[in-house]
Amino acid sequence: MDWGMQNRLNGIITPNTNRCVMLAVDHGYFQGPTTGLERPAETVAPLLDHADALMLTRGVLRNGIDPGVRVPIVLRVSGGTSVLQDDLSNEDLTVSIEDAIRLNAAAMAISVFVGSSHEKETLSNLARLCDEGQEYGIPVLAVTAVGKEMVRDARYLGLACRIAAELGAQIVKTYYCDGFEKVVNGCPVPVVIAGGKKIEEREALKLAYNAVSDGATGVDMGRNIFQSKWPVPMIQAVRSIVQDGRTDAEAWDLLQSQMG
Ligand code: R5P
Repeated sequence: MDWGMQNRLNGIITPNTNRCVMLAVDHGYFQGPTTGLERPAETVAPLLDHADALMLTRGVLRNGIDPGVRVPIVLRVSGGTSVLQDDLSNEDLTVSIEDAIRLNAAAMAISVFVGSSHEKETLSNLARLCDEGQEYGIPVLAVTAVGKEMVRDARYLGLACRIAAELGAQIVKTYYCDGFEKVVNGCPVPVVIAGGKKIEEREALKLAYNAVSDGATGVDMGRNIFQSKWPVPMIQAVRSIVQDGRTDAEAWDLLQSQMG
């Protein structure tokens, strides 16, 4: 692998542990002012010291993040639909490679919608983005978006992850499911999980623990951190599982001790 690409990947996935805690705050790209992200800069600031990477759009990056931050930026570069549409799969590339370079992106993130009405377009977008990333040494994170009509099982998610890796993605983001080790075993690149909708803190910690126990490289978690009443203790607890090898029970004790 090219030095620049490997260097960027090493910034996101800690080489010693081969693990990653990525903080996702890109939800506004199709959801608008998501609960907890009305003022993303304020939400994100106290969390950055505990994240290995920050996933967001260029709009929030330019308007809310201090260029002095040291956290690697995973830049969302796909979009073009909103929650007002029934079909969210009609995405296009929304950021040029030149702008990703200008923003010093450590990686570029794109959603693919396998099995959707725009499967081919989103997969072609991924392949094109991987070509551009390869040219300039910028890794691509493929997000396996799941339409309402799809089942989040190991067969479907394994298919979507494998296709994303085959087309050139260096990291794949997907959802945790029963039989998750099959998803990871079938994917030749690191897999990170999304947190999904806000659930109880105890359950979110269990989710993170199960994912890394089943082979995930880590999490790319958003709502279960920034929508928690205890966002900083929560990201610290998730980090203790992903990076420090704690169990979910140990992380829960840690979190409880800070909940007050
Ligand atoms: C979805 O397309 C976005 O990439 C989100 O960043 C992603 O779903 C992760 O966030 P959460 O943990 O809130 O699901």
